Amino acid sequence: MVQNNDELLKQKILSVVDDISVDWIKEKFNEFVRLMTYYRCAMMEIETKFNVLNEEYSLAYDHNPISSIKTRLKSFPSISEKLSRKGISNDIDSIEKNLNDVAGVRVICSFLEDVYSLADALLKQDDIILIEKKDYIKNPKPNGYRSLHIIVGIPIFLAHEKRVMKVEIQLRTIAMDFWASLEHQLRYKKETTFTADMAKELLNCAELSAELDNKMDSLRKAVLKDNS
Ligand code: GTP
Ligand code: MG
Repeated sequence: MVQNNDELLKQKILSVVDDISVDWIKEKFNEFVRLMTYYRCAMMEIETKFNVLNEEYSLAYDHNPISSIKTRLKSFPSISEKLSRKGISNDIDSIEKNLNDVAGVRVICSFLEDVYSLADALLKQDDIILIEKKDYIKNPKPNGYRSLHIIVGIPIFLAHEKRVMKVEIQLRTIAMDFWASLEHQLRYKKETTFTADMAKELLNCAELSAELDNKMDSLRKAVLKDNS
């Protein structure tokens, strides 16, 4: 019978660890899965809050401020890599203590103004705790990256306890998202070099895209004024 890689790996692990270690690994694994579940719940809460705001704006102003929402949980290898990069021990407790971006929610907005009104509306809610705010729209990164980043604490209600979980929220316009996804693809392309000229060209694209956002925002204001 041909054994697959998983089976071989399982046998190899069992040959080097004793029963006590197997129990310990199982316990740690269960703890990790539980923590990831809590993060997933927190992400769902945040996503719902944004969907509710989108519905309300749509009713009140006949305008959908949100174009799309993306959520992601950091994978175990990325969590582990980030902890070792920061020189922090790789245990379950230190994940919650030291990482702010295990749960990530990206909100892609129609207009620049929507980015700020949605962030303000969320931060005004009395169950949301603001932990950190980085405005890369007012102060773009040197490479041209723009987005509004907020780290919040949000409670999740379990059967017997309430836990506050951290979620990283990135709010950006469609144009900012377009630039960031292409920049990410270009910069992290395997086996290619990224020259200074290419970086300059990307910065130029970021500036053009910011100009487009500003023009669209002004246009929207003019349309609203003319129709009020
Ligand atoms: P990290 O260790 O990368 O999380 O850095 P940080 O804690 O200082 O967070 P920061 O707010 O700078 O960036 C966090 C996230 O924003 C990244 O994981 C990306 O999703 C996004 N981001 C930040 N800078 C860039 C950039 O230059 N290009 C792109 N495409 N995305 C970026
Ligand atoms: Mg990050």
